[in-house]
Amino acid sequence: MTAVAAQAPAKVNVHLAVGPLRPDGFHELRTVYLAVSLFDTVTVRPGDGLALTVSGEGTGPPGGADLVPTDRRNLVWRAAELLAASAGVGADATIEIAKSIPAAAGLAGGSADAAAALVALDALWGTRASREDLAGLAAQLGSDVPFSLLGGVARGAGRGERLTPVLARTTWHWVLGIAGEGLSTPAVYGELDRLRAAGRVPDGRDLPAAEPVIAALRSGPTAVLAASLANDLQAPALALRPGLARALRAATEAGAAAALVSGSGPTVAALADDERDALRLTAALAGAGVFRTVRAVHGPVPGARLV
Ligand code: C5P
Repeated sequence: MTAVAAQAPAKVNVHLAVGPLRPDGFHELRTVYLAVSLFDTVTVRPGDGLALTVSGEGTGPPGGADLVPTDRRNLVWRAAELLAASAGVGADATIEIAKSIPAAAGLAGGSADAAAALVALDALWGTRASREDLAGLAAQLGSDVPFSLLGGVARGAGRGERLTPVLARTTWHWVLGIAGEGLSTPAVYGELDRLRAAGRVPDGRDLPAAEPVIAALRSGPTAVLAASLANDLQAPALALRPGLARALRAATEAGAAAALVSGSGPTVAALADDERDALRLTAALAGAGVFRTVRAVHGPVPGARLV
């Protein structure tokens, strides 16, 4: 076997309710994930030991290279070691990550890479792990990795890793406004804890139900989905990055049905009425001067799979 490639999607949390900080350093979540059509591709080849290269979005100068490390700090490296150890094979592969999903953007780009690597390496090494086995490894790698593997629409509980798939046949169109500089996920959760300690946002003891947003995702119309979108990490992301308020405003002023911060941010996810509206919004937001990149996407799309 010479080369095996897998791709995995970015995600938007259409509902992200964050509970109090747990003793293990994570927050209990009630979330609804939606996989969207922005994909990273991981290509693996036989090798001697592990070697990793990264290209595309967020890599290379100016200053981007550090965002996506090419050593053990990269989740893909850890995914390879974990799969090899669990299957009892050598961790031998040359791995190329081609990024379209920006790093540290709240889009689960690193998780997508790890999920794609699990699928590609399983094929390369012939380890024949079941989807369940891979999901178990994914949960050890990071809270969002199981969803990157699953794709579609799913409820997430626990750290986000306990998933229940949701059947949703409606396709939704979004425009992602990507900022020039990323935000650190732990920093955003930490800021939420500070805002809560200061009594500036609700304490998270009562987590709102995900049902309304799930019902809206299944059947629409857009205005109902727009009204049910919510993200507890938006307030801390805004506190750390005040310019985000302007970016959110730019999206609603451009006519988005709704705009919210994706995950821990700083990406702004703007909901469009349909594909045409998404193209119109893309042009409007590209001209607004508040985003580095603007991408029209749709979802749900499948999780990590061989290509
Ligand atoms: O699971 P992952 O490694 O992606 O999480 C990164 C960081 O985000 C954690 O170390 C933690 O600070 C924060 N986090 C959290 N609660 C979650 C998920 C992540 O506090 N449910």
